[in-house]
Amino acid sequence: MLNIGVLVSGGGTNLQAIIDKIEDGYLKGCNISVVVSSRVGAYALERARKYNIPAISVPRKEYASIDEYDSALIKSMEDYDVELVVMAGFLSVLGEKFINRFKNKIINIHPSLIPSFCGVGYYGLIPHQKALEYGVKVTGATVHFVELEADAGPIILQKAVYIKDDDTPETLQKRVMEQAEWEILPEAIKLYSEGRLVMEGRKVRILEK
Ligand code: GAR
Repeated sequence: MLNIGVLVSGGGTNLQAIIDKIEDGYLKGCNISVVVSSRVGAYALERARKYNIPAISVPRKEYASIDEYDSALIKSMEDYDVELVVMAGFLSVLGEKFINRFKNKIINIHPSLIPSFCGVGYYGLIPHQKALEYGVKVTGATVHFVELEADAGPIILQKAVYIKDDDTPETLQKRVMEQAEWEILPEAIKLYSEGRLVMEGRKVRILEK
């Protein structure tokens, strides 16, 4: 069984997508051992508790430095024997200490086709706003391994979503979630749990079943 720690900050619809795929048997070998939020009132915590998943908040503002925050997050992962860390809408920054402790064991979902509309300051609705402002016709979502540079780690999966003329950041965000994020995040977790992701330099090769 692969123990997963999910990092969240908000509504937790991506967390819900993972829970649903565990419940329906798609993610057979996986167990969410803890959900950790950077915000005290995050609805994601309630979602977890409905399924009796341990859910705790570790607020960034209670720690003086990134290093101290990393140590607190590492402890919360180690307390629950976490083997894979999934950032599912986690909007705090992880530092070197955390990233080195879980090297090649942290994945993130980002709401754009990296390397477009990503990096520092691109989170939540902003990638969608910027995509609409730029006038691109296609956007989407990306799941990638996490390295120190924001949104720059090796890409695991991407899925494209067409932009409509009358899209707003909100309608686009909803469609990208429904058509891309909730699909490719569980799929990437499944591939990881089956040992089918192989790092080749900065590329990820997916082994056939
Ligand atoms: C999702 O769209 C996720 O891709 C994004 O935040 C949202 C969280 O929604 N993440 C980022 O922007 C990270 N840079 P959720 O809490 O409903 O899963």
